[in-house]
Amino acid sequence: MNRREQWGSRTGLILSMAGNAIGLGNFLRFPVQAAQNGGGAYMIPYFISFILLGIPLMWIEWGIGRYGGTIGHGTAPGMFDSLWKNKLAKYAGTLGIFLPLVVLIYYTYICSWTLAFSFYSLFNLYPSAGAALAAGSAGEYLIPYQNYLYDYIGVSSGGVFQVPNPAAYAFFAVTLLTTLYVLMKGVSGGIEKLNNLAIPALFIMGFVLFIRVITLKSPVDPALTASRGFGFLWEPDLKGIISPKVWLAAAGQIFFTLSLGLGAILTYASYVKRDEDIVLDGLATASLNELAEVVLGSTIAIVSAVIFFGVEGAREISEGGAFKLGFISMPAIFTHMPFGQFFGFLWFLLLFFAGLTSVVALSQPAIAFFEDEFGWSRKRSVVSLGIFAALTVLIPMFVRGGLDEMDFWAGTFGLVILALFEVIIFFWIFGAENAWEEIGRGARIKVPRIFFYIMKYVTPAFLIIILFAWTYEQLPSVIAKGDRGVWATRLFLIFLLLLHIGAVRWAWKRRKHG
Ligand code: TRP
Repeated sequence: MNRREQWGSRTGLILSMAGNAIGLGNFLRFPVQAAQNGGGAYMIPYFISFILLGIPLMWIEWGIGRYGGTIGHGTAPGMFDSLWKNKLAKYAGTLGIFLPLVVLIYYTYICSWTLAFSFYSLFNLYPSAGAALAAGSAGEYLIPYQNYLYDYIGVSSGGVFQVPNPAAYAFFAVTLLTTLYVLMKGVSGGIEKLNNLAIPALFIMGFVLFIRVITLKSPVDPALTASRGFGFLWEPDLKGIISPKVWLAAAGQIFFTLSLGLGAILTYASYVKRDEDIVLDGLATASLNELAEVVLGSTIAIVSAVIFFGVEGAREISEGGAFKLGFISMPAIFTHMPFGQFFGFLWFLLLFFAGLTSVVALSQPAIAFFEDEFGWSRKRSVVSLGIFAALTVLIPMFVRGGLDEMDFWAGTFGLVILALFEVIIFFWIFGAENAWEEIGRGARIKVPRIFFYIMKYVTPAFLIIILFAWTYEQLPSVIAKGDRGVWATRLFLIFLLLLHIGAVRWAWKRRKHG
């Protein structure tokens, strides 16, 4: 067995983990979720989920990951196999490579849009507005910007296929090649270097945009100030606290934003030194993510929408989803502010950095699996992943509904299942005391003992409730809808999962004989 790579420095490790967690979700998904689910009311379930799910699972993934790394395993199949002496363990771990790979397929594509739009902002290639901007006219006003995005990604109103603009391939190719270049340089030589640059740059750009937004003057109505925007976001609407829908949304966002339940944190943690203080590092990662999400993410997109389009307009935009907020509303706003070209460029570059550092994190589980379990060289692993990503992106590119379908199964549903496997295998099979000790090794602060009980009982119970609620509430409607394109995507996902199970089986056979 070759010696596994390790992170070069503690700062580099924390920034890389933050780069893993901070992504498009912080700046696009969170603001939309918060606005749609009652703003201030959403924050209570959000915060409770952060404490009961986010922090515990963060520590659990760091703990399992570091444990696996010290015995030569960078992904869930090998980790579960060593924690649980059962033939099935490695198959449960299959999700830890399958899920990040599925998310990678569509996430890289979305990330490439942000690169394209930063370019379009810089050269001011947006259309100018058709309708006059007046309070309450967001819908009409945004039409040219909407068409601009749709022209880029090729949204069609009917049929199975959509055809994107040729530019979309070019920007995708640049994004993918950049990712492969970073991966080729390895964990400390590539991933860590990228994050050491990109994450500080991201926070600087975020703060510049934050200041720009809170000092923005409304072109339609002087009463629309930043504080109206903050009010819209944070004024509590207490109905939300008793709504299961709001709870599900909040818990789902915590998972997504912290990159939990996918196997990506596991893999990054497998390159951590044996007595690194993972308690503190895990907390630092989660805090940086929340700073980017709750302070910067929500303010930039939502507060500026309120200033430009009023509360009703901002609500309407949020109902239209994350792409409407990020790729339609924001360009419209930037074309109408002084130095908008520059600020628009900054916004999309920030998104690109957030996205790229997550794309790299989503790729590493597959790379680690090839290297650790197949014994492949890094080059061979990276090239294989590149070919896979270049081919599979055709689904979210061309198949209408394909992107959403992948996002639902892997980015919403699958991660709860993997997270449940993690808690059960670590705290119930490997043993709660062992797991607790494993997490605490090398830690200078002692985690309050209450987290022992939270991790053992509350977190898994919470996960089971979410799983049942989703199965009951969303699954029937998701399965019922679906034209041929969506079904083709589903078949592809099933095929891919079987392929993964086969790969795990093959790797273990090979190890036994080899
Ligand atoms: N956390 C990322 C975001 O906020 C998305 C994400 C979810 C992710 N799971 C991941 C990124 C795993 C990298 C690895 O956008």
